[in-house]
Amino acid sequence: MDEQGWRGYVGGYHDAHPGITERFFGLADSSPYRWLAEPLLGVRGTVLDVACGSAPMRVVLPEAGWAGVDLSAGELAEAARRGRGPVVRAGAEALPVRSGSVTAVCAAMCLPVVTPLPAVLGEVRRVLRPGGVLAALVPSRSGLSPAGALGWARVLYALRSSGQPWPNPQALDGLAAVLRAHGFRVGGDDRRVFRLGIESADAAALLVDALYLPGTAAHRTAAAKRSLARWARPGRRLELPLRRVTAEPVTGNTPPEQP
Ligand SMILES: C[S@@+](CC[C@H](N)C(=O)[O-])C[C@H]1O[C@@H](n2cnc3c(N)ncnc32)[C@H](O)[C@@H]1O
Repeated sequence: MDEQGWRGYVGGYHDAHPGITERFFGLADSSPYRWLAEPLLGVRGTVLDVACGSAPMRVVLPEAGWAGVDLSAGELAEAARRGRGPVVRAGAEALPVRSGSVTAVCAAMCLPVVTPLPAVLGEVRRVLRPGGVLAALVPSRSGLSPAGALGWARVLYALRSSGQPWPNPQALDGLAAVLRAHGFRVGGDDRRVFRLGIESADAAALLVDALYLPGTAAHRTAAAKRSLARWARPGRRLELPLRRVTAEPVTGNTPPEQP
C-alpha cells in the first residue's frame, strides 16, 4: 500500500473506531499511558500530544499544559465527548504550532503509523524548545515469552494474517536509532511487557478490532472473533511488549550522537 493509500486507510479506520487504542489498552494489567507519562510528570509548559487519538494522555498529565493534534475527526470528536482538550485537527507532518514553543511532545503508539516519518520528526524537532523532550511509546516485537509468542501465533492464525502492516517498521524496536539519525539525543529506551486480559468474547472482539488489517475481508475478521471468543477464558493473558523512548533534539552546540 502506498503512502496515500495508507493515509486514507488509517484515517477511515480511526474515524470508524474512535477511542479504539484507549479501549484496547484498557485490557492491560497496568496503564501504558501512565508509563509513558512518567518522564513528563513535573514538566512545566506545554506538552503537545502528537496523533493524540481520543486524548488518553490528557488524563495522565492532569497538571501539565496540554494540547492534542490528530488527523482523525472521529478521534477528536471522541476526545471532546470525554471533555478532553484543546485538540486540533492537523497532520503530524505539518504541526500548527510555533517553532520552539512546547516543552515536551508525547507520541503514543503513533510513530510507526504516521507518514512521512522524516517530516513528522522534523516537526517534533521544530516545535520543541531547547532542552525540550520527546516521549514516545511504540509496540515492540521483542520480549515475548514462549507462551506469549504462542498467544500471538493463535491470534494471527485466527486472522490468517502475518502481522501488522506498519508503514514505518523501523520505528518499532529501532526507534532509538531512527531518532538518532534524525538529530535527537536518546535519553532512555526501555521495554516493558504488559498483559492483556482476554477473558470474554467482547475482549477478543476488541483485540481484533484494535489491529490494523487493511486487506482482511470482513468475513475473516468475523470468523477470527468467533474463534478467539472460544479461546478467551477467565485468566487468559496475552503479552503486549511496548517500548518507551525519550529523546531531545540535538542543538547547534551539541555534537550529534553516533548510532
Ligand atoms: C494507534 S492510534 C494512537 C492514538 C493515541 N495516541 C493513543 O495512544 O490512544 C494512532 C493515531 O494516529 C493518528 N494519525 C495517523 N496518521 C496521522 C498523521 N499523519 N497526523 C496526525 N495523526 C495521525 C490516527 O488518527 C490515530 O488517532
